[in-house]
Amino acid sequence: MFLTQKSCFFLFLIVFLSALSSVVALGANIICNRIPGLAPKQKEICQRRPDTIVAIGEGARQGISECRWQFRGRRWNCTHLGSEKATFGHVHILGTKEAAYTYAVTSAGVAYSITQACSQGNLSSCGCDRSKLDGQYSPKGWRWGGCSADFRYGLEFARQFVDAREIEHDARSLMNLHNNRAGRKAVKDRMGTECKCHGVSGACTIKTCWTTLPRFREVGDFLMKKYKKSKLARPTKGKRAKTPIVLQLKRSRRTNKKPRRSDLIYLDRSPNYCEYDPDLGSLGTVGRTCNRTSVGTDGCDLMCCGRGYNTHQFTRTWQCNCKFHWCCTVTCQSCSERTEEYTCK
Ligand SMILES: *[C@@H]1O[C@H](CO)[C@@H](O)[C@H](O)[C@H]1NC(C)=O
Ligand SMILES: *[C@@H]1O[C@H](CO)[C@@H](O)[C@H](O)[C@H]1NC(C)=O
Ligand SMILES: *[C@@H]1O[C@H](CO)[C@@H](O)[C@H](O)[C@H]1NC(C)=O
Repeated sequence: MFLTQKSCFFLFLIVFLSALSSVVALGANIICNRIPGLAPKQKEICQRRPDTIVAIGEGARQGISECRWQFRGRRWNCTHLGSEKATFGHVHILGTKEAAYTYAVTSAGVAYSITQACSQGNLSSCGCDRSKLDGQYSPKGWRWGGCSADFRYGLEFARQFVDAREIEHDARSLMNLHNNRAGRKAVKDRMGTECKCHGVSGACTIKTCWTTLPRFREVGDFLMKKYKKSKLARPTKGKRAKTPIVLQLKRSRRTNKKPRRSDLIYLDRSPNYCEYDPDLGSLGTVGRTCNRTSVGTDGCDLMCCGRGYNTHQFTRTWQCNCKFHWCCTVTCQSCSERTEEYTCK
């Protein structure tokens, strides 16, 4: 089966994730050759640093699962990523906003996971941030101590690995590179500081602090805000020979503007995702559950694209009013409730 560079972007992660447990015992050469769809430079990184592969895969998986959570009540819901369909290359990842989010959140996931693996001592090539280890005072009067997350290493590693796929120098690659960077930046900008006080009976005579990763949900939330405001970009002729095309936001007939680094950018308008169209990455919304009372994207009107919905009544039963009797039994009552579920026609 023929797979384009783009359509197998996620494929390699998924296939090798499932195979991972069985291949970790094998040598780097074998692992790296078994992962389908690796770009040459990625294969080289894989061979040089085989211990990072688990963290890369974990990061990509975290990104995809965040995408699914963020889009759970929307027509396009990230499902095709990592599903059987993607595995067989039916899904073409287009230059849409949804692709922009996907690239950003996956690249953020890899940067995050590598940084975390460094802090946990899982990788031989990195650890805690050495520039913040030596008890140096910060301008705010406390000292660096503990294990500061080396996010610079994680970001740079993710840049080298994830960006290595974008070798075509066309508008789509430029878009992906931009969104990959926006994803990494979202991690960097959310790094925090945690502190601990030392001193007799809780007095804060010495305060030591270290940098920490945010919760990944914060990164996903931020990128979701950016997704909602993502900007349409167009390829225009670059000024220098090295950059034959650049992506710019079209403001009016005359003026173009460079996108901001934190912006998500896209090239193609999204389909409405109402109908099944595998070529557009659209699974359609027939059979999707919807919320009859919501006016949001998960509401039946929007979700079902005006086709209407079916109502299923059923009785939900669960254990309730559980009591503990000494000793040692638990008795519960059975509670039930009539509920309805709505699915799109
Ligand atoms: C996402 O969409 C697919 C296909 O329309 C559906 O099968 C799946 O249940 C949806 N997932 C969620 C979490 O709603
Ligand atoms: C680090 O290694 C431990 C033990 O193998 C594992 O449970 C953990 O998930 C790893 N952490 C990362 C971020 O890869
Ligand atoms: C449906 O939407 C309403 C209004 O937004 C919300 O209060 C309710 O919790 C939702 N129900 C479900 C099952 O998600």
